[in-house]
Formats: sequence, structure tokens, C-alpha cells
Amino acid sequence: MELNKVTIIGGGVLGSQIGLMAAYVGKDVTFWLRSEGSVERTMPKIKRYSELMIKDLLTAKALIGSPMGRFVYPKGLIRNWDSVTAEKIDELVASATKNFAENIHIELDLAKALADADVVIEAMAEDPKAKIAIYTDMKDLLPEKTIRLTNSSTLLPSTFAEYTGRPEKYLALHFANTIWKNNTAEVMGHPGTDPEIYKETVKFADEINMIPLQLHKEQPGYILNSMLVPFLSSAQALLATGVADHETIDKTWELATGAPAGPFKILDIVGLETAYNINKMKPDAQKEGSVSYLIGKLLKEKIDKGETGVNAGVGFYKYK
Ligand SMILES: NC(=O)c1ccc[n+]([C@@H]2O[C@H](COP(=O)([O-])OP(=O)(O)OC[C@H]3O[C@@H](n4cnc5c(N)ncnc54)[C@H](O)[C@@H]3O)[C@@H](O)[C@H]2O)c1
Repeated sequence: MELNKVTIIGGGVLGSQIGLMAAYVGKDVTFWLRSEGSVERTMPKIKRYSELMIKDLLTAKALIGSPMGRFVYPKGLIRNWDSVTAEKIDELVASATKNFAENIHIELDLAKALADADVVIEAMAEDPKAKIAIYTDMKDLLPEKTIRLTNSSTLLPSTFAEYTGRPEKYLALHFANTIWKNNTAEVMGHPGTDPEIYKETVKFADEINMIPLQLHKEQPGYILNSMLVPFLSSAQALLATGVADHETIDKTWELATGAPAGPFKILDIVGLETAYNINKMKPDAQKEGSVSYLIGKLLKEKIDKGETGVNAGVGFYKYK
């Protein structure tokens, strides 16, 4: 089945990026937004991300022939780095500009937004009640053919499957922020997902220039966060309990494994507020003297000083 008509529910950070990525490869994209206010908030995001995508394409020209090129080129925008030329990049810029102008539609009427969708991707805020409400509203409006996907980072598809009306056509396709550079797409069904629909979703992810990463069962945190969260927690524990300073911990990891960035550089990219919120969910986070409590205290002190990471210009490290 051709999956050409894509509806995105929510025009936030990830919704805008997913919609643009689908439009970039020529899919017909409709954003459903809940109000005129949402349109006003979403349009600048679409503009900004589309400009960044074009800028990254143009910057990639200078990387052709450089040994570093293959590590840093925008992988979601250029499918085959080995055969790329400056002329091919110019062609991609031209097709992207045309596709962004012609293939993106905004719709406030949910019925119209869903009428002929092959795929609907829910990228709404991480609020279970709001997600249940939208699945319930969509249930009777969606055509039978539509594959229903969620980009939720922390909620499991089995939690919502029954509200979608077609649990067999529902699963998670989880993208990463700055999707056109970090082009991972974790594909995760729930026990009732039809294996054929799962396969179609893997194919769809590939068509929109993502690298599909297939999970064989449900897992909170998918693959990446199942590894990353405990790793970052261990590093924070070493710091919070006074075993070593953050630079030494990073240096140990980088020198011993060859990884380009240690845990505290990664934490600065993730943002300390997110790290704080994740730590807060640990059962002993409020227990004075526990390691989680000490981590929370340390992160809170930095957040209160405005040192929240790369976006703020300072976190564990300073940025220009
Ligand atoms: N930000 C990330 O790095 C990231 C990465 C992967 C996955 N995700 C997931 O993507 C989803 C969206 O995250 P985001 O970062 O884009 O959030 P965001 O806050 O930038 O955007 C959320 C969008 O949902 C809309 N929304 C909120 N409540 C709504 C409601 N009741 N009805 C209709 N629309 C509503 C908002 O208007 C906004 O457009 C979440 O499930 C999140 O877990 C986020």
C-alpha cells in the first residue's frame, strides 16, 4: 500500500519536524491544529525548521570530500553520502523548497484533516488524558485503511490501543529531536499490533529517510532511553556522592571507550530540566540522603542558577 497522505496531530517541536521530513520526500502532509492560536505558534516553527534543513543541506556542500563529512552530514536529508555532489545538493534544495511550499497544509477541522489519511502520526504533548481524548475523537473519523502512529517518548502504545478503535493498526514510531540529522525511528508495536502493519510502518519510516530501529516487544524508553537513562544516572550518582568531578567522569568515559562525548556533555545537550524530571520519578527521590535525592539537589541548584545546558549557554560546561 502506498502511504502518501500523512496527517500530523500537533504542531509542536517534533510534530513540525516529522511533517517537514515527510513533505521533504514528497508526501502530502496535513497538520491538524486545535485552534487559531496553535496555528500562530506552529507556523514560525515550520518556517524555522524548514530554513534549518535547507541551511544544513547547503552547509553539507562544504563537507564533500572531507573525512569528517560522513560523520556529520544531515543523514535525513541526504540518503547516499558516497555518491553526493554539489549539483545533487542543489537539486535537493530546489525540491525541498518546492515540496515545503506545495505539500504542507494546515487544517483546524479534524474530520477534514483525517478524511483520506494513509498515516496519522500523533505528536501531541505527553499528556495521557489529552491523548485518550484525541484518539477517541479520531476513532470514528478515520478511514479503515489508516495506520495510526504515536511519537510518545514515555507512554506505551498498549495504554491507548483500545481507544483508537483499530488496535491492530496502532503502534509507536518514535523519532529523535532534529530528525533531519538524528534520523532514528524506533518502531514499537503492542501485543495487538498486526505484523503486516508493523512492516508497513518500517517501510514508511525508510521512505521518509529515517533508519527504522525495530523493537520486538514493548519496552518503556524504547532502546535508546533504556540504555541512556541508567548510564546518565550512574554518572550523576558518581558526581552527587563526591566520587569524582564531572570533567574526570567524562574524560574516563571518552578515553576508555573512544566515545566523542561523556555523560555530562550529553546531559548538557538533553537539558538539565529533563534530567531533573526523570530523576524526580525515582521512588527514593524525596528521601533525604538517598543518592537520587542528592542528584536532584545538585541538578536543582544548577537549574535555579539558569545553568540548564547547551540551550542556556551553560550547564556542566560553558558554550559560546
Ligand atoms: N521533544 C522531543 O525531543 C521529543 C522527542 C521524541 C518524542 N517526543 C514526543 O513527541 C510528542 C510531542 O512532543 P513535543 O516535544 O513536540 O511537544 P511540544 O510541547 O513541542 O508540542 C506539543 C503539541 O501538542 C499540542 N497539544 C497539546 N495539548 C493538546 C490538546 N489537548 N489538543 C490538541 N493539541 C494539543 C500543542 O499545541 C503542541 O502543538 C510527545 O509525545 C513527546 O513525548 C518528543
